[in-house]
Amino acid sequence: MKLILKFLAACSLLATAAATVNDRITKSTEIAQSTAVSTTTYQLSSIDDSMYAILVSPEEYAHLSHSSVSVKGGETLPSTWIDDATLFGFKKLLVQLPPSSFSSSLTLTHSLALNTINDPLPREITQDDLAYSLSYKTYTHVVSPYHTHDMRVKIRTPTPKILKYGMTYDDSKTTKNGGVITYGPWIDTAPYSIPTDHIEILYEAAGPRLAYEKVDRSAQVSHWGNTISYRDDIILRNIGPSLKGQFTRLTHQAQSFLNMLPTNVATLLEMRLPNQSQEVWFVDQIGNVTTSHLKQSDAGTVLQLKPRYPLMGGWKYSFSVGWENTMKSVAKVVNGLIKLSVPFSNTPSDVAVHEAVTRIILPEGAHMLDVSVPFEGATISYETTYTYLDTIGRPTVVVTAFNTSAAHNKDIVVVYSLSILNAARKPLTVSAAAFALFMTTSLLRRINTKI
Ligand SMILES: *[C@@H]1O[C@H](CO)[C@@H](O)[C@H](O)[C@H]1NC(C)=O
Ligand SMILES: *[C@@H]1O[C@H](CO)[C@@H](O)[C@H](O)[C@H]1NC(C)=O
Ligand SMILES: *[C@@H]1O[C@H](CO)[C@@H](O)[C@H](O)[C@H]1NC(C)=O
Repeated sequence: MKLILKFLAACSLLATAAATVNDRITKSTEIAQSTAVSTTTYQLSSIDDSMYAILVSPEEYAHLSHSSVSVKGGETLPSTWIDDATLFGFKKLLVQLPPSSFSSSLTLTHSLALNTINDPLPREITQDDLAYSLSYKTYTHVVSPYHTHDMRVKIRTPTPKILKYGMTYDDSKTTKNGGVITYGPWIDTAPYSIPTDHIEILYEAAGPRLAYEKVDRSAQVSHWGNTISYRDDIILRNIGPSLKGQFTRLTHQAQSFLNMLPTNVATLLEMRLPNQSQEVWFVDQIGNVTTSHLKQSDAGTVLQLKPRYPLMGGWKYSFSVGWENTMKSVAKVVNGLIKLSVPFSNTPSDVAVHEAVTRIILPEGAHMLDVSVPFEGATISYETTYTYLDTIGRPTVVVTAFNTSAAHNKDIVVVYSLSILNAARKPLTVSAAAFALFMTTSLLRRINTKI
């Protein structure tokens, strides 16, 4: 076998110190157009430390959207990224193992969400080019600081049209079955064995390559209206191969008619909204977009957005969507406090997000006590929002994160208090305003009658 493994000199010391072994590592990466999700299971035994180290390749770390480690099918474990200059750019993730695992065995699952880890080929295509490819470079092995008895690496592409996949020198260790390529099994791999070369997988894309340059969410709570209203302002971009030459609507119409639209043209975006969403709207810079469609089902509410124009490679589309949910679906009263759970995002599964900002706007007079964000790397800030007829403004929490994806579609939990007087503040203001209006109009009438 021609596979050459690098051994890191500095690490042999560590290797002898660690008696923990990997009985089996299985890494499975599902790669789409803009995003990829990778799940690695580590079956450990002879555990002799409270910490376990996972190594992540430089490419994966550079395109990291989300990382989490859990006991298989169970609790999430605390983990920290460590810089280690001796690891050829590999990043180390130190995982705190449950105390009960000492000297026994355990299966861990490491989930990674990766944004734009593949590259479109070619970089530019004309309106007549029906297909494009994506190139994904990765390793055939998982690198681990521990001895590994059995290791397999699987890659799943969205179409079985795979034009290229590596490892020609040992065909018996490479199997392709439809859109799934398996490398291995690799038996008894030494600690810190890093394959010298990447492999390249070149596959035909199954759809357009989409990204949100920015998504700005505001979620406003109204106890008075018994609703939470959402508004997402989205800048969507097609980050597939750019359109070369002129766009002609005639060609597009002919292609649509013949059902031969190029893969890279986006004409529909599906967004999964919270269950039982009401009052759904979709506007862009021109106005209401009426070509959208809403599907209510037990699995949730699916909003099918049809942009006003086909989104060609490199093009951008700005739009806003909004909807409402009942307070009952997001809030619970616990010990006289209100516990609100608001999704940070509703990003579709194959959309890479550059920047996501979510503002949760509480009612006037609410007192924010606690905010918890279900992922790392976000920044949290506070501000006050004033809307029509507000007297003291609404406490607002702003959560900002970069390089997010569907892995961040989780609830932010806000705990706040609201006294009865404060809950009544809005109706009081409204009646005060109505009274003032009544006074003014009657005053005007009196003045009028005088004339
Ligand atoms: C947009 O649609 C909403 C409800 O569907 C309607 O109330 C509103 O007037 C429409 N706006 C425009 C500018 O057509
Ligand atoms: C949506 O609500 C229905 C009942 O109204 C429930 O059966 C279903 O599990 C819910 N789906 C989600 C995704 O919460
Ligand atoms: C987001 O990802 C890009 C690479 O895709 C990287 O250059 C940038 O530093 C990342 N930003 C943050 C805040 O992590």
